Amino acid sequence: MSALAHNALLVLEDDIDSGPIEQALPPGSRVTKTALPDAAYLWSSLTATAADVDLVVFACDREHDRVLEGITNLTRQLESRPALVVLHTGSSNGFMEQAFGAGADDLITLPQPTHELAFALEKAIARRRGATTAAEEGVMITVLGPKGGTGKTLTACNLAVALAESGHSPVIVDLDLQFGDVGLALGLRPDRTIYDLAVAGSSLDAEKVAGFLASHSSGAHALLAPVRPDQAAAITIPFLRAVFEALRSRHDVVIVDTPPAFTPEVIAAVDLSSDICLVGMLDALSLKDTKIGLETLAQMGYDPDAVTLVLNRADTNVGIGKADVERLLGRKPDVLVPSDRAIPRAITDGRTISEAEPRSGAAKAFRSLSEHYVRVAAAAAGQAPEESQGRRRGLRRKGGN
Ligand SMILES: Nc1ncnc2c1ncn2[C@@H]1O[C@H](COP(=O)(O)OP(=O)(O)OP(=O)(O)O)[C@@H](O)[C@H]1O
Ligand SMILES: [Mg+2]
Repeated sequence: MSALAHNALLVLEDDIDSGPIEQALPPGSRVTKTALPDAAYLWSSLTATAADVDLVVFACDREHDRVLEGITNLTRQLESRPALVVLHTGSSNGFMEQAFGAGADDLITLPQPTHELAFALEKAIARRRGATTAAEEGVMITVLGPKGGTGKTLTACNLAVALAESGHSPVIVDLDLQFGDVGLALGLRPDRTIYDLAVAGSSLDAEKVAGFLASHSSGAHALLAPVRPDQAAAITIPFLRAVFEALRSRHDVVIVDTPPAFTPEVIAAVDLSSDICLVGMLDALSLKDTKIGLETLAQMGYDPDAVTLVLNRADTNVGIGKADVERLLGRKPDVLVPSDRAIPRAITDGRTISEAEPRSGAAKAFRSLSEHYVRVAAAAAGQAPEESQGRRRGLRRKGGN
């Protein structure tokens, strides 16, 4: 671990002793201490101070809501933000999920031996630096769908294979930790899964993560979901962040398949993504949910340009025309995937539709989705400077990573 001095801001609830935190920072670190604000307007001067530090530590006992407000303020308002670590002495009781959901890099229960605390703070700073660097590297697409069965896994798998077939090196992460079926859809045996990686111990690096990936004949790779639902509990948010960072350093596109809910893991993936692929279906209820999904992403600070909209089963005759869809969603879907009976048959065989029926309309739709992301990846790699600048506005969340 580096012993470089840091510039740290400690935001302390009354009665919390900053001594042990200061001791855990490397010698020579510059420390600014301030009380946890108790009025909304006080956050603005704190945000200005936080813009110049590489670490913000919130230390609290009972004031969870004020800390969450602080994290949300900082993540929304700072373009390039410092590491955010929450130290707390009370019971975490749901606070942990909320803190990570708001954007905290780590949450640590006090008291801790000085060397443990020092290690955790260093790790958070290193991870934040890594995440910022990674955001400049490969494209990371989180595939979201407002409800179960809209076609997220179908889209994620077909996109991965289509990208591999066009010479890219995609990796798909199955974040449906309890009921993931990427392995089944791609015909891959779960010899090693994300659970095995999580319990393997020692630190994570790109090489280690590579040893836990399944290989598809197309050249795509996959980090498969645990084989049993109870194993999902071993997957933590800091672990996932490190996994995404490692994968982005080796693969030009990371695709994340998700369960049909905004779990803390999904929020963490969305938070780190450069792009979102929202998959909806053509029926009134699904369109309503897709609209809510678009609105939620806008509230989270995503530029609409970074959200690609896939309309699955787009040829279903339910009395909703193209104009109705555009009016309801306020935008045109980017890719239309037709219903095709060959799709469930292909899934049963563990094949993608482009492998089973390459000339089908569905296979063409997924190839066009892949071509869209090839352009995004090229722009991100700096091959198309004009497009890159345009995407940069779109790829970046307003609050930055
Ligand atoms: N365009 C389509 N044509 C025919 N069948 C389809 C189509 N899209 C999806 N399906 C069927 O719907 C099922 C659900 O699709 P998929 O597993 O991709 O949805 P999902 O959004 O990942 O679901 P979950 O939320 O449960 O993970 C698939 O097994 C497939 O058989
Ligand atoms: Mg799925």
